[in-house]
Amino acid sequence: MTDTTPKKLHIKTYGCQMNVYDSDRMAGLLAPLGYALTDVVDDADMVLLNTCHIREKAAEKVYSELGRINKMKQARQADGGAMILGVAGCVAQAEGEEVLKRAPYVDMVFGPQTYHRLPEMVARLHREKGAQLDTDFPEESKFDHLTAPGRVEGRAAFLTVQEGCDKFCTFCVVPYTRGAEFSRPVDQVLAEARQLVAQGAVEITLLGQNVNAYHGTDADGAELGLGGLIRRLAEIDGIARLRYTTSYPAEVDDALIAAHRDVPELMPYLHLPVQSGSDRVLKAMNRRHGRDFYIDLVARLRAARPDLGLSSDFIVGFPGETDADFQDTLSLVREVGYVQAYSFKYSPRPGTPAAAMELQVPEDVKDARLKELQDLLNTQQLAFNQACVGRTLPVLLDRPGRHAGQLLGRSPYMQAVHVDAPADWLGRVADLKIVSAGGNSLGAVLADASEQPAARRSA
Ligand code: SAH
Ligand code: F3S
Repeated sequence: MTDTTPKKLHIKTYGCQMNVYDSDRMAGLLAPLGYALTDVVDDADMVLLNTCHIREKAAEKVYSELGRINKMKQARQADGGAMILGVAGCVAQAEGEEVLKRAPYVDMVFGPQTYHRLPEMVARLHREKGAQLDTDFPEESKFDHLTAPGRVEGRAAFLTVQEGCDKFCTFCVVPYTRGAEFSRPVDQVLAEARQLVAQGAVEITLLGQNVNAYHGTDADGAELGLGGLIRRLAEIDGIARLRYTTSYPAEVDDALIAAHRDVPELMPYLHLPVQSGSDRVLKAMNRRHGRDFYIDLVARLRAARPDLGLSSDFIVGFPGETDADFQDTLSLVREVGYVQAYSFKYSPRPGTPAAAMELQVPEDVKDARLKELQDLLNTQQLAFNQACVGRTLPVLLDRPGRHAGQLLGRSPYMQAVHVDAPADWLGRVADLKIVSAGGNSLGAVLADASEQPAARRSA
């Protein structure tokens, strides 16, 4: 019989939004066993770390956190209690047994493709001695085993439509940790979207490591790409906004570009990672786009949706990157113009081709390049934010602000916006007049309120 006495579950999530989605599903799978979420670690009966292996720092953080949590686990055991400690996600997938060697007090190690077996692992933990390790890439899809979506935080929800990556960029661990590309069937996606709306979501972000590789089949056997899927989702009553992330530039097709032109629910913001502006480096990275292709793609997207705001990921200090290559990255940034971006120093990942390449770039050179790139990107971001001052933007108010009477939300371009507004506006998409801009956020007033002085003057 399943033990359903009330228990507390703490999940700490690292890395990408797909991990956030997965953590919510893990909570959903454990709820029938009596586990309710808590924010307090040392009070938890089960602690799960949903980990990220993308860069060395991300992976190392997990081990120091495990050490810290083990102290709490020991303290609980000394008091006659117990704490189940699990490592999920990509560190678990990539390092498997190694996790148990470095942290022998861990009870469960399982990858991103096997967490649907969590209830079974927990049961086995109670039955058998020793830790549970499950890092298969199983035949059955976890998506067929997931219960209803977990919480919808605020009004914006994530929906995983695609998973895995077959692109094998030479720096990247994702193809090894997440496995081959897989798309969920159209009807499964539509059903989950309807459920999310029923739970209060008005904005849905479609997730996939390579989301625009999406190709699903609907109930009638028709194949849909991401553009087609977006059109179907936009027809669902209650969905005001759609987004998707992350895209692989070489696979953006005409149907997706057309969706940006035709679907008003699709927000004018796109994360389109270029990584580098140098053809030589892009080739060594095994990216399937060159500089000119990317710049032309941006032009085609902007022709379809002129107000499109672009974001990207950049890596500096990839093996063999020269000063001239780096200058090419800076010039690409100037040419494209980004509303925001993420940039990283190249971090060698064991088992990936780039880690074994010669001409690794010294750390101090990486530091200097990262700073120069980030200065430029920050300048562009601030300029974009400042250019929004005076405009009225629809903002999804989905969180309470820092002080009483304040609400926080997101603009169509993913900018954080704060505004003094009535508490019952939470959850609305409100037209706000932008009145101030910083590097990371915008200040706004209610568009109607800003009209009042003028209205009074004319009265
Ligand atoms: N398509 C993926 C992107 C992979 S990871 C997604 O799901 O979002 C996100 C970013 O991390 C990459 O775009 C890349 O810029 C960066 N990254 C990946 N491997 C890296 C490495 N070894 N060193 C530094 N940055 C890396
Ligand atoms: Fe990684 Fe490249 Fe795929 S960055 S996720 S291998 S597209």
